[in-house]
Amino acid sequence: MCGIVGYVGTRQAGNVLLDGLKRLEYRGYDSAGMVVASPDGQISIRRSVGKLAGLETLFQQEPLVGQVGIGHTRWATHGKPSEENAHPHQDCTGRIVVVHNGIIENYPALKSHLIKNGHTFRSQTDTEVVAHLIEEKWVPLKEKNRAAGADEFLSVVREVLLQLEGSYALGILCMDLPDMIIGARKNSPLVLGVGENENIFASDIPAILPLTRDAIFLDEGEIVVLSKSGYRVLRLDGQVMEKPIKRVTWDAVMAEKAGYRHFMLKEIHEQPQSIEDTLRGRLNLDEWQVYLEYVKMEPDVLKSFRKAVIIACGTSYHAGKVGKFLAEKWVKLPCEVDIASEFRYREPLLGPKDLIVAISQSGETADTIAAIRYARSCGAKVLSICNVVGSTIARESDGKIYTRCGPEIGVASTKAFTGQLTALYLLTLYGGLVRGGLDKQQTQTYLSQILLLPRYIREVLKREEEIAALAKKYFKSKNFLYLGRHMNYPIALEGALKLKEISYIHAEGYAAGEMKHGPIALIDESMPIVAIATKSCVYEKMISNIEEAKARGGIVIALATEGDQQIAEKADHVIYLPAMPEFLSPCVNVVPLQMLAYYIAVLRGCDVDQPRNLAKSVTVE
Ligand code: AGP
Repeated sequence: MCGIVGYVGTRQAGNVLLDGLKRLEYRGYDSAGMVVASPDGQISIRRSVGKLAGLETLFQQEPLVGQVGIGHTRWATHGKPSEENAHPHQDCTGRIVVVHNGIIENYPALKSHLIKNGHTFRSQTDTEVVAHLIEEKWVPLKEKNRAAGADEFLSVVREVLLQLEGSYALGILCMDLPDMIIGARKNSPLVLGVGENENIFASDIPAILPLTRDAIFLDEGEIVVLSKSGYRVLRLDGQVMEKPIKRVTWDAVMAEKAGYRHFMLKEIHEQPQSIEDTLRGRLNLDEWQVYLEYVKMEPDVLKSFRKAVIIACGTSYHAGKVGKFLAEKWVKLPCEVDIASEFRYREPLLGPKDLIVAISQSGETADTIAAIRYARSCGAKVLSICNVVGSTIARESDGKIYTRCGPEIGVASTKAFTGQLTALYLLTLYGGLVRGGLDKQQTQTYLSQILLLPRYIREVLKREEEIAALAKKYFKSKNFLYLGRHMNYPIALEGALKLKEISYIHAEGYAAGEMKHGPIALIDESMPIVAIATKSCVYEKMISNIEEAKARGGIVIALATEGDQQIAEKADHVIYLPAMPEFLSPCVNVVPLQMLAYYIAVLRGCDVDQPRNLAKSVTVE
């Protein structure tokens, strides 16, 4: 997620922007920049790749003078991290300067229209189209009417915003109006800080706190204009809005977590949004097509594969195990799943007809990197699913799909996991369409169901209190057993991993059908058993497993489909989930297990975001 800070007031804008951007660093970024306008209408821009220290050095070498400016930290979603892709971006004349957070879905069409009209682009970003769209309307208007001012510019901006599809939080500055900046939001947050003779807008609260605790939260489609005379909030239709000022009581650290106690809990709650962001711009609902902008594999190449091998570690490996079902069901492609550290030493038989799918949140996991290098040395093609644009695994792949989850700060992976499953749904639907495993009608059905994922997860998040209460009952347990079948067997593994890695309780995920082959000996009244028994093709089998566990004194916590009374008679506790298509159940069923692990770990006083012995990215073997 990018960070935006805009300022108009009595201080030197550069200092305010730099401090504000530092307070947004937790959002993750790979480049940064700022623009400052001096009273005589000169604008100065500084941009740098990497950490803010680079921007700070530039700023110290050549200080920016002016009390109006906009700053930006970029988390790349389109175009690699580089100086030319760093914000702010300008139009051809250099008079219009824009920063952006979000994804402009229709930028390809807008960009080709602008290029046809003679515009030249400097970057690969979707953002730059906004500067050129404003130029296309403002420059001729200004030439015709030298007196055109803030109101005329504002109406040009409103017209341009109406052309944008997708999500944006924007900061806009025009050289002709050096004492004014405009902020706008659609599906990407922007908050206004109201100070004494100074005002600031930002992507998130921490950036405004040094100036003020008086905040105005912009609503969807609203625009804010900051100038020396104060601020105005308008709707896209131009109507001026009277907005309540709210007093922010959070301290800066709490604000980084958006008021959540831990990043992990915040990221669990971010999952509906991160899934929407991962889906955004990749489904064509008119033609029921899937667009994967960086897969870069011709249909003939995709059709030529004889097998797929998914490789990953930890949670990402569990995502891969779900992916296997989708690959064989939809793509009709034999699919193996390997732990990366095992794959690279078993000397797998690979060649140009084999597709490797590497899954990695960080894109820097040493074993996964080594595995894809081995695979490429055998001539296999590599597709990766990563959350970090420009990461090593992404760069060394023939094609990639970026999950747009924003940085995942908690060591225990949550939103990245459901983002990976979302990317796997898209990839296997795309593969199924290309290789003929799916027809249009089936694709239409599945795509319309996938779009309901965020809603299902929002439903489950409402059960937080009930899950926290369950955690209170069992947080002193010494062992847990997680049971699942079919597509939810990987979710049993993932639920167990979540619990053990943050609460340090021993937990095992097991294929429920394997109970009789050993683990049933473990069962007694001291061991809670989490059974994933939402409606599925193996539901009856799961009911039998629950009965077997109960017969031996086990305590059963069942995940079940709402309305299922039968299970309530058998399990000790039931967490109900919405009725949903079976193929989506792994992505939804994992959420209560993430929450259960979180609340148990909190009750045990563990360091939830930074569990002992663990690193967010395992960059060594
Ligand atoms: C997940 O909760 C763990 N933090 C860990 O298993 C992680 O999934 C694994 O290290 C793989 O990381 P990657 O996705 O960045 O490659």
